[in-house]
Amino acid sequence: MPTKITLSSNAGKEAHRLIIIDNNSDLTQAGLDKATAKSIRSKIDQKIQPVLNTTEAGVDVFVNLESPKTGTDLLEAWRKGGSAALTALLQFKANKAGVLNLTDNTDAVVPVLEGALLTNYKFVRYKTLNNNTHLLKELALDKKILDKKTAEELTITTEATCHARDLVNEPLSYLTAEQLSKEIEKLGKEAGFKVDVFNKKKIQSLKMGGLLAVNLGSPNPPTFNIMEWKPAKATNKQPIVLVGKGVVYDTGGLSLKPTPNSMDIMKSDMGGSAAVIGAMYAIAKAKLPVHVIGLVPATENRPGGNAYAPGDVIKMHSGLNVEVMNTDAEGRMILADALSYAKKYKPQLVIDLATLTGAAVRAIGPQGIVYMGTANDEVKQNISASSYKVYERLVEFPMWDEYDEMIKSEIADIKNVGGPYAGATTAGMFLKYFTDYPWLHLDIAGSAYLDKPDGYRPRFGTGVGVRLLFDFIKKQA
Ligand code: BES
Ligand code: ZN
Ligand code: ZN
Repeated sequence: MPTKITLSSNAGKEAHRLIIIDNNSDLTQAGLDKATAKSIRSKIDQKIQPVLNTTEAGVDVFVNLESPKTGTDLLEAWRKGGSAALTALLQFKANKAGVLNLTDNTDAVVPVLEGALLTNYKFVRYKTLNNNTHLLKELALDKKILDKKTAEELTITTEATCHARDLVNEPLSYLTAEQLSKEIEKLGKEAGFKVDVFNKKKIQSLKMGGLLAVNLGSPNPPTFNIMEWKPAKATNKQPIVLVGKGVVYDTGGLSLKPTPNSMDIMKSDMGGSAAVIGAMYAIAKAKLPVHVIGLVPATENRPGGNAYAPGDVIKMHSGLNVEVMNTDAEGRMILADALSYAKKYKPQLVIDLATLTGAAVRAIGPQGIVYMGTANDEVKQNISASSYKVYERLVEFPMWDEYDEMIKSEIADIKNVGGPYAGATTAGMFLKYFTDYPWLHLDIAGSAYLDKPDGYRPRFGTGVGVRLLFDFIKKQA
């Protein structure tokens, strides 16, 4: 259940409250008597975070905006403050909390609330025993601290992020490619974007050889999903296309992953598609005046049946022949078909998101996203600025010509592995063959799924990419 957000003139009268303060705040404005205000102030000055004031009725949790940080690091510090406050409210089993801002700082309200809302999440669908998870049901914001439109947008983007988390957290036992399509249709109806689902027959008729090859070992059919948000007054003539890797489970195929330790989290290998679906949901729900298309090729990668094998040569949707050297490099096989399909839209820009390589994880870990591509510097600067703002930070990797040599095949056009070095880059070099438009590739393997929580980013699916894409697309409006 998403957190309900209301604008209220009685936020200060709630039993539980989240109160934003700084060094200049007069705490008696929140109804505290002078003695209490003084003792709270001294705790705040001792930097005991978060500072709590338990009352007969409930608890006040103070979020102190003071910080040595600056710029986008400061925004993140405020999100973390909101996250810590929400954790405290949950410990008090609060169902509803009022939110007050006792500062003149209006920039901090959204990040504080964002941190709180993104912390108010847990995946509990399968818990029938001892489910003592408590979540906050409602935040009642003091009317004066946020306008209606900003509050709505915040609700939409945090909800969309949580939808993406749910999709990543759903196991294969529920979320097959066909079920993923049903989820897309459900979210499309709710948010107002159009959905078209191609079944295996249609995928065969389109000659999507990469997607079909990866699917060969699976008893469950693949799907190819097209989402479209086309507002009447779009500011762009050519659409922006978002492409998400939808490998609902990656065993590695015949090049089987070793277990335990690498296969057990591979239900998360559709994290790129979750980001695209979540972003489409937010963009449509917020009615951004930008024409955006989302493409998701979806399948499992398994070693059974007719599974594609190392050594196979696959004719892709684009007509290129790919020599398969490792069936575990399946993400690029299905993305390639989607990228090649995207050409028909004559897109202004294509951005793909994928949990593509272990190399990206090793390079920067869960702290960021490896990216590269052929879009111009202005686009790169724009998306990079968005990434720092929402704190899903991008690091650009080079696409030097020399890397291209590493994926040339002796018997076909290219091969799907590049050798021991620069694994994230050679994956990107492979994808580049299937593009003929300005393009960016985001490898989110490091941050789509966490083994331990990190502030407002929960353990397991993080929903990374949703807020980044939304912020970036909003700038095109
Ligand atoms: N889904 C994996 C990449 C991955 C690894 C995602 C760890 C999240 C966490 C991808 O399909 C894969 O297996 N990549 C191989 C490619 C290699 C065989 C060239 C890899 O990175 O090891
Ligand atoms: Zn793989
Ligand atoms: Zn994979």
